[in-house]
Amino acid sequence: MDNSVKLFSALKIRYCELPNRVVVAPMHQYAAVDGYVNDWHLMNAGRFAAGGAGLVMMESTKVERRGCGTVGDLGLWDDCFIPGLARMAGFIQHCGAKSGIQLGHSGRKARCMRPWEGGRPVAADSDTARSVKDWDDWELVAPSALAADEGWPVPRALGIDEIASVVEQFAQAAERADRAGFDMIELHGAHGFLIHEFLSPLANQRQDAYGGTESKRMRFALEVAEAVRARWPAAKPLFMRLSVQDDAGWGPEQSVVLARELKRLGVDAIDCSAGGILGKPPSGAAKPA
Ligand SMILES: Cc1cc2nc3c(=O)[nH]c(=O)nc-3n(C[C@H](O)[C@H](O)[C@H](O)COP(=O)(O)O)c2cc1C
Repeated sequence: MDNSVKLFSALKIRYCELPNRVVVAPMHQYAAVDGYVNDWHLMNAGRFAAGGAGLVMMESTKVERRGCGTVGDLGLWDDCFIPGLARMAGFIQHCGAKSGIQLGHSGRKARCMRPWEGGRPVAADSDTARSVKDWDDWELVAPSALAADEGWPVPRALGIDEIASVVEQFAQAAERADRAGFDMIELHGAHGFLIHEFLSPLANQRQDAYGGTESKRMRFALEVAEAVRARWPAAKPLFMRLSVQDDAGWGPEQSVVLARELKRLGVDAIDCSAGGILGKPPSGAAKPA
């Protein structure tokens, strides 16, 4: 008997049926203007959908202004972003694919130049900083006041009374993603961004309900998943991307514990990635031979 799973066979997750198992990973385009999508994004996502992928995910789209990694990040912290993203979801579906969107927050890795501009933090006295209308609102926040790398700016540690509002921003963005017509959401819990920062013993040195032990470091990720699941239709899939190995105190053992908890809360799949908490690529299987 042939038990193999065929790449071009359908896959049903909740009420969402992917026509095949080709999934286009979220890929940041750094092309947004003031958080809005434009023709570039339609062309980029559209070509994958027209090419026959089963699921096309939009890049990490930020749930609050502070969470933008660069000046070119997409936003979903306000209803004004819904019409543009609805056009993306609609076009992807028109091609026969399912449409997904990744929701993220860059935490202490916010406010950087784009990769081809060096990827370093934006200097406050630079032309880029001067071109940003709301520079003061673009604040770096994180679980602890620890810089992402040597010479990087020190973020402000979120007060315990502020964390619930960040969780709420994720939930509101999920509601907006539903109104825009997306079929699935992926929460960005990888690559050294805010959710990963809370998980990491390196980035999270809190001694309150959100840090100090492994289970307390998992609390923010679990609260985000729970809040999003509550406000995202039960018929639609929810994924979480994790750096399942980050070479800095978080590995497969911890990821399995977290994945079991996430499953209990209604997360349907873990999108396994790696690295991002240190200022260098991950080691291990991804290394060229
Ligand atoms: C230009 C570019 C942008 C990316 N943007 C994101 C992103 O927004 N969110 C994310 O989780 N990963 C992002 N990634 C990582 C990819 O989703 C993907 O994991 C990576 O290219 C490795 O491919 P693989 O997972 O198929 O091995 C990006 C990668 C590239 C090359």
